[in-house]
Amino acid sequence: MKVFTSISDFQSEIKKRKAQSESIGFVPTMGFLHEGHLTLLKKARQENDIVILSIFVNPLQFGPTEDFSTYPRDFERDRALAEGEKVDFLFYPSAEEMYPNEPSLKVVVQDRTDVLCGKSRPGHFDGVATVLTKLFNIVMPTRAYFGLKDAQQVAVVGGVISDFNFPIELVPVDIVREEDGLAKSSRNINLLPYERKEAGVLFKSLWTARKTIERGERNPDKVTSLIREMIASETSGQIDYVEILTYPRLKPLVNLESTFIIALAVKFTKVRLIDNLILEI
Ligand code: PAF
Repeated sequence: MKVFTSISDFQSEIKKRKAQSESIGFVPTMGFLHEGHLTLLKKARQENDIVILSIFVNPLQFGPTEDFSTYPRDFERDRALAEGEKVDFLFYPSAEEMYPNEPSLKVVVQDRTDVLCGKSRPGHFDGVATVLTKLFNIVMPTRAYFGLKDAQQVAVVGGVISDFNFPIELVPVDIVREEDGLAKSSRNINLLPYERKEAGVLFKSLWTARKTIERGERNPDKVTSLIREMIASETSGQIDYVEILTYPRLKPLVNLESTFIIALAVKFTKVRLIDNLILEI
């Protein structure tokens, strides 16, 4: 596995590979890899000639009071895990390499950002779309792999790819969970021990909602209330949102039908967790 920190060295290598018509599977991450990321890498390995992993904690997507400085980082551990997944190139730029000057422009996401994480994290998806536009131009991947834990991000990335005509296939990959159902996330390490025990309730509440819908409930408000009650009574976390929207358009719906997402975000002492279920009826 070759590690690149310079954009120009990395692009020279990629150009050579593209000239040989090799397909490129790209997994963009902010590092502190967990099983969810490894699942993306495994899928990319199966489907492409070359696998590229990027690790970059993108300052543009964090708000001023968010966890940029405490976001977990461990490059040597990530490097070993990437080697284990037979990654060909690891792209690990510094912030100065990615943003050498005050950016002269940024990508503004106009759609799908007034709901879910977009509502409570203003500017977050502009930061995600800006860095991904840069990364897609640098890497020129055939396929890009994203975990569905960040289902709103997957929907936004779909918009970036289609609006800007990137010739990239978006590959959404199912959520990987701990034994108690907690969605794997780099941020889970920042849960206090008692919060880690409580956090399994997030998935339990989504699962209970699913069962209720399977038994015939079609009123989204009743389903979100059920989830809110479970989280409020069984955890010490503060609910940021519990919403049900169409997926991937992320529009409100009066009755549960077709494809929709039940999504939630809960704040614990040092970390805010998100989770979701996408259902089709
Ligand atoms: O999902 C993430 O880790 C980040 O939002 C991404 C896609 C790497 C962009 O910085």
